[in-house]
Amino acid sequence: MILDSHGRKINYLRLAVTDKCNLRCTYCMPAQGLDWLAKPELMSTQEMLRLCALLVKMGIDKIRITGGEPFVRKDLLPFLWDLSRLSGLSEITLTTNGLLTAPYAADLKKMGIRSVNLSLDTLDRQRFQMITRRDALNDVLNSLDAFMSQDIQVKINTVVMEGKNTQDIIPLVELSEHLPVSVRFIEEMPFNGGTHDVSLNWNFSRILEHIKAYFPALQKKRDPQHSTALNYKIQGHKGDIGIIAAYTRSFCGSCNRLRVTPSGLLSTCLYEAGSLNLKELMRAGATDALLEAQLHAAILKKPLDGWEAAAGSLNYQSEHQSMATIGG
Ligand code: GTP
Ligand code: 5AD
Ligand code: SF4
Repeated sequence: MILDSHGRKINYLRLAVTDKCNLRCTYCMPAQGLDWLAKPELMSTQEMLRLCALLVKMGIDKIRITGGEPFVRKDLLPFLWDLSRLSGLSEITLTTNGLLTAPYAADLKKMGIRSVNLSLDTLDRQRFQMITRRDALNDVLNSLDAFMSQDIQVKINTVVMEGKNTQDIIPLVELSEHLPVSVRFIEEMPFNGGTHDVSLNWNFSRILEHIKAYFPALQKKRDPQHSTALNYKIQGHKGDIGIIAAYTRSFCGSCNRLRVTPSGLLSTCLYEAGSLNLKELMRAGATDALLEAQLHAAILKKPLDGWEAAAGSLNYQSEHQSMATIGG
């Protein structure tokens, strides 16, 4: 078991396998994309697998694969198969934008992947194109269908943006009527790479009030431990609704996460740049014992409340360029 120095049990790894993406969401990156890492700067699948195996041995039992967009990595599928064969892991899951994912839904199911998080900010083709700078809504909807037909649980992630997609909140809530999905509305977090001004007008309470005005019977559900979302149910709907106060609320007290960036930096807090360069250590010939010792030492320094230090001031702007460089 991994415990940090504040007694928090760390069992969840978010592994970003690439910074590249085939969308250009305006809250995430500029039209020209980021300064993508060159291939040798990315961890290889063997390096990622070695690291995951070690962390699982140390006590990690849930791994979320993120990016960028994980499926732009051509070697993702064989890597996921290898990961699925690690014993000791109780959950592998993914966060994807769904552009390339539909054809792999059956494989994911076969590997034992039971749930995915799908980014989808609007159900309107034009607004999708405005927000993501790509005309690709249909591909995402096909992936949603493919996941549903494989009985893979889907959480939809919708970043709420003033003047861009607030008219989509209710249609997205309505998706949960007939589909067993969890539709989660996320407060936008300001990142350097984002290309529009972030308005905090649509914070948690405003989103909640907006949904309640249309669905007064909205009921609070019990939240799973470590849930980023506060979850709600509408009577008669197959799915449910969540709101993630990513900007105004701290998740730090019960944080159980580690992050590894696409370039192999360990980050123990969303609000801090990665500290330990795992890729370089591995390339310099570090043994598992040395890696494990370094990981433990870094985890002991995991801050108690990175949010308070950073986002607590409302002028907070992440020192990270984009969610894509740290994997959410
Ligand atoms: P699960 O609980 O496993 O479903 O993960 P998740 O909800 O964290 O995963 P996902 O990748 O779908 O991230 C959803 C949103 O949660 C992201 O857009 C972030 O805004 C937010 N988020 C994720 N991790 C953190 C965190 O440590 N702190 C804060 N403030 N927000 C986070
Ligand atoms: N604020 C909030 N959420 C964001 N995401 C990406 N950038 C931001 C941001 N600036 C979300 C995406 C994806 C999840 C991992 O992070 O919608 O679903
Ligand atoms: Fe790609 Fe996700 Fe960033 Fe959109 S938010 S550009 S889908 S990494």
